[in-house]
Amino acid sequence: MTFAARFQNKKIIVTGGASGIGQAAVIRLVAEGGTVLALDRNAEGLAQTLELANAAADYGGLALSKQVSVTHEQEVREALHHFVQEQGQLDVLINMAGILRSSHTTDTSFDAFMELVQINLGGTFLCCREALPYLLQSKGNIVNAASTSAFFGHAYMAAYSASKGGVAALTQALSREYLNRGVRVNAIAPGGIGTPMVAAQAHGFPEGVDFSLYAHLSRPDRQLGEPQEVASVIAMLASEDGAFVNGAVLRIDGGTHG
Ligand SMILES: NC(=O)c1ccc[n+]([C@@H]2O[C@H](COP(=O)([O-])OP(=O)(O)OC[C@H]3O[C@@H](n4cnc5c(N)ncnc54)[C@H](O)[C@@H]3O)[C@@H](O)[C@H]2O)c1
Repeated sequence: MTFAARFQNKKIIVTGGASGIGQAAVIRLVAEGGTVLALDRNAEGLAQTLELANAAADYGGLALSKQVSVTHEQEVREALHHFVQEQGQLDVLINMAGILRSSHTTDTSFDAFMELVQINLGGTFLCCREALPYLLQSKGNIVNAASTSAFFGHAYMAAYSASKGGVAALTQALSREYLNRGVRVNAIAPGGIGTPMVAAQAHGFPEGVDFSLYAHLSRPDRQLGEPQEVASVIAMLASEDGAFVNGAVLRIDGGTHG
């Protein structure tokens, strides 16, 4: 497929860029001419992303990577600082890093709850906070990863759903706070997408789960979306095509939550 050159001369950071939706976003944005730094804690996945993205690069696009945990303040700050020093600016931040775990709520330790919220919500907050001074200069934008669980709640995923509800609210709060200062903040809310996270979850359910509680999530013709079908929406939101979209939490689920 041939893409447009919407991200030529744009400097972009994608967290969670080693896998799934984040990896697909890196590949798409580099194919549209962006210079994209993929951040992730998974070094092996980052190497794969660089290979795939640079093979598909067009319009001068380039993929770079750095191993970083999104919950580590100093690592995040330094990674962003070095990228801006090297590239001169930051135009877009895409926060896709996240984890998914399921458990009966009565069996969920406070530590496990807090770890999930720390990565999914805390990591998103931290990267937004560190990126905003640069985005204010470039009049850039942010795309965060919420989930349909933010609105519908997924059984046995209370911590995950709560973290994604937090990401949706964080997105809307930031969009309002920066409304008059030229920075747009949006989120995607995917349903089930075929990524390593979802493949791992298939084996990750605890004993005694009532799977009929997920019946509303599937459609007869297609169970899961493709990461590329989410990356195309991320690209729209992050580009000038999304110029009048701000504070949106955009559902991408093929209509499965109707
Ligand atoms: N796949 C889905 O069905 C789906 C649905 C709704 C929302 N989402 C969200 O979209 C995002 C991407 O999901 P995915 O399915 O591509 O998952 P994935 O597991 O394939 O990719 C997530 C990436 O985040 C990285 N990551 C996790 N914790 C990190 C940390 N502390 N620091 C740095 N990197 C870290 C992982 O190493 C991994 O590379 C996640 O936020 C997820 O919650 C996914």
